[in-house]
Amino acid sequence: MSDFFSNGWGIYIALVTGVGIVWCLYLLFSQRKTNITYKPDGSVDDTGHVWDDDLRELNNPLPRWWMWMFLLSCVFAIVYLVLYPGMGTYQGTLGYTTTGAHEASVNQANQELKPVYAKYMEQDVKQVAADPKAREMGQRLFLNYCAQCHGSDAGGAKGYPNLADQDWLYGGEPDNIKTTLIAGRAGVMPAFAHLEGGQISDVANYVRGLSGLAADQLKSARGAEVFKANCAACHGPDGKGMQAMGAPNLTDKVWLYGGSEAAIVETVSKGRNGKMPAHESILTPEKIHLLTAYVWSLSNVKDKASK
Ligand code: HEC
Ligand code: HEC
Repeated sequence: MSDFFSNGWGIYIALVTGVGIVWCLYLLFSQRKTNITYKPDGSVDDTGHVWDDDLRELNNPLPRWWMWMFLLSCVFAIVYLVLYPGMGTYQGTLGYTTTGAHEASVNQANQELKPVYAKYMEQDVKQVAADPKAREMGQRLFLNYCAQCHGSDAGGAKGYPNLADQDWLYGGEPDNIKTTLIAGRAGVMPAFAHLEGGQISDVANYVRGLSGLAADQLKSARGAEVFKANCAACHGPDGKGMQAMGAPNLTDKVWLYGGSEAAIVETVSKGRNGKMPAHESILTPEKIHLLTAYVWSLSNVKDKASK
């Protein structure tokens, strides 16, 4: 009930609810049987409304069953409002919250799944990856938690790495992958705005040449110097990258942000900051174990017929 900034709304809602119930009860009371006027002969009086000459509206008491239903719904409302949150900011005696209910059902599901996962927790990642059933479970988890960024086939997109190839920013051993999942990763490619435009174009040509793409020879030769001075610290003197800091290998044909001269110029002049979110607080260790095995299997397990 704390979606509002001021208490005023809570009080307003509580008032509308409370007055509504009291009004219903008053209405019932005012229409009770003893309030009806009877004629001396015992028949009920009419309301004075007449249609089509002789059609009179009688003032009969409300049907009993209807009165009781109405009364019961008022009682239900009061009991409900005592037990559950509903009256403004009052929390209810049961301490119920929808978040709490959700967490309880998540916990219950996790408990039920524990025995299923337990078997896999005893195996190392490569063993788990060899089990088609575990890969299926991993794939379902992947579709739930990872596909929105990495694609349902894990093929990635611009800025989101392909997880199904042999090219790794942070390393493709099971331990690397698990660390990535647990703690997340933040790629920091600094912006080189202080380089002159010419130098950026030079180094972009040099970078293209590293993976055999067409490049201007003159620019590339000048770019080699720029690279040595500014880029080698992270990408390595040979441009093969450094997994410890997620600096990509620039000598392969795999591009995270694109290998055209324009894309590289953009990368170098504006910088890039890819973020892989940490999943430690989102996923149980069991799910992370299965996901690690699934991701590892994508580039290491040949037999994927059952995938
Ligand atoms: C919000 C988007 C997002 C989600 C969700 C996400 N990732 Fe990522 N992931 C990224 C980005 C972006 C990177 C690259 C980080 C960088 O550029 O340094 C990455 C990197 C990775 C890497 C490292 C790849 C390499 O080459 O070393 C792995 C492994 C990975 N993600 C697996 C997963 C798995 C498994 C899940 C699901 C649990 C997942 N990711 C969910 C965005 C996401
Ligand atoms: C502080 C370390 C660091 C330095 C210095 C650095 N880079 Fe990077 N670079 C990275 C990281 C980390 C990434 C990956 C960014 C991400 O994951 O979002 C990257 C990404 C790139 C990419 C994108 C590759 C792709 O696959 O799309 C290019 C191109 C690149 N750097 C070129 C350069 C050039 C040229 C220089 C020198 C002018 C340079 N970098 C200097 C760390 C560095």
